[in-house]
Amino acid sequence: MGVRVGVLGAGTMGRRHLQALRGDPRVEIVGVADVAAEAARTAAETVGARPCRSVADLADLGVQAVFVTLPNVYHGEAVLEALDRGLHVFSEKPMATTLEAGRQILRRVRDGDRVYQMGFNRRWAPAYRFLRRHVDGGFTPYSANVKINDGDMLTPSWYTNVGISGGFMYDTAVHLIDMVAWLVGPIETVAALGRKSCYPDYDDIGLLLRCRGDRPVAFSTCGHASWAAPQERVELYGDHALLASEDLDRARYTTREQPQAEWQHFPSPDMVTLWGYVDEDRAFIDACLGRGRPPVTVDDAFHSLAVLHAAYASIAAGGAPLPVPAE
Ligand SMILES: NC(=O)c1ccc[n+]([C@@H]2O[C@H](COP(=O)([O-])OP(=O)(O)OC[C@H]3O[C@@H](n4cnc5c(N)ncnc54)[C@H](O)[C@@H]3O)[C@@H](O)[C@H]2O)c1
Repeated sequence: MGVRVGVLGAGTMGRRHLQALRGDPRVEIVGVADVAAEAARTAAETVGARPCRSVADLADLGVQAVFVTLPNVYHGEAVLEALDRGLHVFSEKPMATTLEAGRQILRRVRDGDRVYQMGFNRRWAPAYRFLRRHVDGGFTPYSANVKINDGDMLTPSWYTNVGISGGFMYDTAVHLIDMVAWLVGPIETVAALGRKSCYPDYDDIGLLLRCRGDRPVAFSTCGHASWAAPQERVELYGDHALLASEDLDRARYTTREQPQAEWQHFPSPDMVTLWGYVDEDRAFIDACLGRGRPPVTVDDAFHSLAVLHAAYASIAAGGAPLPVPAE
C-alpha cells in the first residue's frame, strides 16, 4: 500500500519535491495547492495531480501526507492545520519563524501520532554523510569552523522581507546550524554579531557557538558573496585530524600521518539526488508507512529554531552570549 501525498506551495521547492517524489512508486501525488492558480495548475500537470488552493482542499482530495513548501512565515499555521486534519507533515525549513509557533508544533507532534519531518536535506547529501560516517566511526570533533554563503538575496522575491523570511539566517544558515548540532553536538550558547551591508536585512553575520561538551564553533554567513564555490564549507577538528567538506559533493579526512589525503568526490545523477531531496523524501514516506521514525525529528527542528532565536537576540544585544532557549 502506498501514501497519498499533496504538496502545498508550487514554487521552487514544491516542484523539487514533486520531482523527487515522482520517482517513488509508493507515492501517489494527488494534489498540488497554491494561492497562485497558474502555479498550482502547471506544477500539478507535470505529475498528473489535481490543482487546488489550500490544506483544506488537499484534505478533501483524500491526501494522507502533505509537503509544506510555502514561504517561511506560513509554515507554522499550515503545519498545525495539517496536523489537526490528521495528516502526516513534511515541512520545509524553517520549522516556523517564531518560538511560540515552534513550541505549538512540538507539543502537537508529541501528543499525536502523526509523522513530522523537517527538511534538513543536507543530512542525506553525500559530503555530509561522509563526515557523519567518520563521527559515528569514532572521530571526535573538539571544535569546528563553518561557513555558508549566498551569492545574492534576489530569489525568491520575498528573501529580504523579514516579515516573510523571518530573517536571513532562517533561509540558508539554518541548514548548517542543523549540521553543527548533528555533527558536533547540541548548541548551548550563541554569541552573534551582524551588519546590514548590501540588503535591508542582516546579511553579514558571525556566530560563536558553544556545543555540548564545551566545544567551540566559529560560524559565518554572508548573503552577497558571489556564487563562487565553495558556497559552504565545514571543518571539524579532531585529535591531530581534520574532517572537511566543501559544498555537498566533496569531503576529505586528513590526519597528522596523512595530511595530503585526497578529496573524495561524490558525483550524483542529478541535483535532487545530490542535494539529498530524493533520500529525505523516501525516509519520510518510510515513516508514513510505519517503517521507522522520521530521521529529522520535531526536536531537531525546534533546536535549530531556538538557536536562531538566540542568535538574533544576541545581535540585538550587541553580541552578548545567550543561552539557547529551552522548549
Ligand atoms: N531545503 C532546501 O534546500 C530549500 C531550498 C530553497 C527553499 N527552501 C524552503 O522552501 C520554502 C519555499 O521556498 P521557495 O523557494 O519554493 O519559494 P517560492 O516563492 O518559489 O514558492 C512558494 C510558493 O508558495 C505559494 N504560496 C504563498 N503563500 C501561500 C499560501 N498561503 N497558500 C498556498 N500557497 C502559497 C506561492 O504562490 C509560491 O508559488 C521556503 O520555506 C524555503 O525556506 C528550502
